[in-house]
Amino acid sequence: MSEKKKAAFKRILLKLSGEALLGKQSTGVDPDIANYIADEIKSLSDLKIQIGIVIGGGNIFRGIEASAKGMDRTTADYMGMLATVINSLALQSALEMRGLPTRVQSSIEMREIAEPFIQRKAVRHLEKGRIVIFAGGTGNPYFSTDTAASLRAMEIQADVIMKATKVDGVYNADPVKNKSAVMFKKISYIDVLTKNLKVMDSTAITLCRDNLLPIIVFNLQKKGNIRSVVCGKKIGTYVGESTTPP
Ligand code: GTP
Repeated sequence: MSEKKKAAFKRILLKLSGEALLGKQSTGVDPDIANYIADEIKSLSDLKIQIGIVIGGGNIFRGIEASAKGMDRTTADYMGMLATVINSLALQSALEMRGLPTRVQSSIEMREIAEPFIQRKAVRHLEKGRIVIFAGGTGNPYFSTDTAASLRAMEIQADVIMKATKVDGVYNADPVKNKSAVMFKKISYIDVLTKNLKVMDSTAITLCRDNLLPIIVFNLQKKGNIRSVVCGKKIGTYVGESTTPP
């Protein structure tokens, strides 16, 4: 755990990929990974920050891939949205096992298992110290869970989107395939778009750019990183307008 004890942000939106939950499995949720993520989030408890979470569904179903193979795009995207609900419930369970009060709100109404998404209620939950997990993407096909993260971050007036990935930040080439890829410390929204850097899809980046919401891209697999980012330690890549981190 980092020695820093003060948070740089009051309210964050943490974006997790569904694939992060895979662990060593080829599909589904690895409980060890859900527990690891929950422990990382619990490590923020003393900082008294407000936490919203959006989690993808790619470990269970990828709408865009299924549609590329001939499935109706809208149907495939709805299946992907349902996958995010499964992941949200898995994360809720892991967080609550650690005594962290959590609410899941779904964009697609399924009241037996989650509250419907109501912006004002979400903000109230955050103010009361509950972690709010936003499930079901935006509730619309053709939008990614990155866009859902941008949208929810805007709606709850988060100070930052913390995008957790499996690499250290944003690179000029895929660091998994290209060992000489260089990581950016800071980059502007427009550079992400024009260089086609695939930090988030263009809709998500554009939404952040239009509303000047900074994004910090960092490696989830390094223990203590979530806390380090929350405490303002300069790790990962900062995406913003002026590229001057707060
Ligand atoms: P406050 O009253 O503002 O403190 O919020 P609260 O969430 O504690 O109260 P509420 O009475 O709204 O909810 C009590 C519990 O029921 C919480 O665990 C909610 O997540 C859950 N809950 C509320 N509405 C729904 C719903 O539509 N569907 C499901 N499945 N659970 C719900």
